[in-house]
Amino acid sequence: MTTDPGGASLIAPHGGQLKDLIADEAGRASLASEAQALVSWDLTPRQVCDIELLLNGGFSPLDGFMTRADYDRVCAEMRLADGTLWPMPIPLDVTEAFGEGLVSGARIALRHPEGMVLAVMTVSDVWTPDRRAEAVAVFGTDDDFHPGVFSLLEGTNPVYVGGSIEGIELPPQHSFPALRRTPAELRALFERRGWTDVVAFQTRNPMHRAHIELTKRAAAQAGAKLLIHPVVGMTKPGDIDYFVRVRAYEAILERYPADSTELSLLPLAMRMGGPREALWHAIIRKNHGCTRLIVGRDHAGPGNDRSGKPFYGPYDAQELLREYRDELGIEVVEFQEMVYLQAEDRYVPAPEVKDGQKVLSLSGTELRRLLAEGEPVPEWFSYPEVVDVLRDAYPPRERQGFTVFFTGLPSSGKSTVANVLVSMLMERSSRPITLLDGDIVRKNLSSELGFSKEHRDINIKRIGFVASEITKHHGIAVCAPIAPYAATRREVRDMISAYGGFVEVHVATPLEVCEQRDRKGLYAQARAGRITGFTGIDDPYEAPEHAEVVIDTTTDSPAESAEQVLRFLSDAGYLPAGH
Ligand code: ADX
Repeated sequence: MTTDPGGASLIAPHGGQLKDLIADEAGRASLASEAQALVSWDLTPRQVCDIELLLNGGFSPLDGFMTRADYDRVCAEMRLADGTLWPMPIPLDVTEAFGEGLVSGARIALRHPEGMVLAVMTVSDVWTPDRRAEAVAVFGTDDDFHPGVFSLLEGTNPVYVGGSIEGIELPPQHSFPALRRTPAELRALFERRGWTDVVAFQTRNPMHRAHIELTKRAAAQAGAKLLIHPVVGMTKPGDIDYFVRVRAYEAILERYPADSTELSLLPLAMRMGGPREALWHAIIRKNHGCTRLIVGRDHAGPGNDRSGKPFYGPYDAQELLREYRDELGIEVVEFQEMVYLQAEDRYVPAPEVKDGQKVLSLSGTELRRLLAEGEPVPEWFSYPEVVDVLRDAYPPRERQGFTVFFTGLPSSGKSTVANVLVSMLMERSSRPITLLDGDIVRKNLSSELGFSKEHRDINIKRIGFVASEITKHHGIAVCAPIAPYAATRREVRDMISAYGGFVEVHVATPLEVCEQRDRKGLYAQARAGRITGFTGIDDPYEAPEHAEVVIDTTTDSPAESAEQVLRFLSDAGYLPAGH
């Protein structure tokens, strides 16, 4: 039996050897000196999460990023090449340029964005995957409304590298260090406490009363202890950030009986893969020394598809896990939806509700509305200590920052309306406003960029970054680039809505009108073939499908168009009443 330095067992109560990929002291020194001469790959934020769980054994039995044989079988059958159950592909995705020189047997250094080398990888395979086929195999769809599909198709690099890794150090973590326990540390803690039966609760949301009742019931039913094990790596875009959530988790710990519950943070990058993800969560929790995992309604659910239908059924995850029950090595505690019985002031699983009994519910969207509008959140839904934390982090809309993002063809009137809007906003309040007009940005932030798809995307992402910082600091950003590509606009939306409002304004002036206006004479030049890659002529403009406001400057004056945006901002609560 392997033991950690504290002498505790590294074998989970339900079996399963824990990988510890960090080398011993001498090994670390020699890897660090070898790494100085190696080519190095700068890990992406998602890879930083993946490598942390690879290195600390959270992803046992993986001993590195997936080889092609493992990847192929995981996609097709949810098994590694040797037959071990494992549902999620974990390759290292790199750029074509980086992948080009790599051959089997090469050693590469894997570097944290802060600069330190975390591990050395021995490359065994380099390949170009079909990521769309991967999406269909893993998520059951290639609809990029699915956040896992979107991040796979738009956010990963095109070349995959597989191979074992030897660790030098874990990624540095500066927040909540006392709450971040590795699998070995959690196993040791459970052993010290004599906790032989521990049920894990996975979450990416604040815990309201339904979650607290559910976890209390799960622990009581099993006669087990409870591990609240929230994900603090990457979750679904738009989720409440983990700093806020952790403050809220800490606040409710007192609601559990003494010596019954622990809180530990999991640096996982979720893929929102529903059933497959639930299976993955179970394996990860087994590695962390837990004997049971709660799987409730819509576990790791990615939301709705393009046509408004949920990607997975609410209990698909439970069904899949049942199929693998004998192989999992961890029990699944199934829960139906927990609902609130008003007359009895308590939560029960939906099937226990009798005919005629009144149940109350409140959706996440409704909660956001109550917070945004400064209205009270009912105590049956969430304990006051949780609501206080949320209110502090999410002030009502009129005190939040926001971004107005104009998009449209060249000469559609974006800049004109944006300028009018800025003046109108400045007349009404002294809140700081920054105009990020296409030309201003190209002069000040992006002067070296051209108009290729790549450069256009970099330009828009820079605007998005600056606007998200402004929004985070409760200011107003008004952006007016062409922003022709839908995927990039969506990335910008995700980036900004985490911090405040995002109002997309489609300036839908038709091409003929824009071309007739031809403010800068560029349409004429494009038609004559003197410039290429011109949006609307020989480069596409992907019109927004869900813009908050649509204006057309053919019929409306700039002031009327700006008024339309202003009305939206007022109605949505971003501007104080009376404006
Ligand atoms: S998840 O993406 O991490 O699954 P969330 O944090 O909302 O999202 O859910 C955590 C766990 O609680 C999941 O197992 C989920 O199925 C379960 N759950 C959340 N809300 C309810 C509810 N009202 N009734 C039953 N189970 C629930």
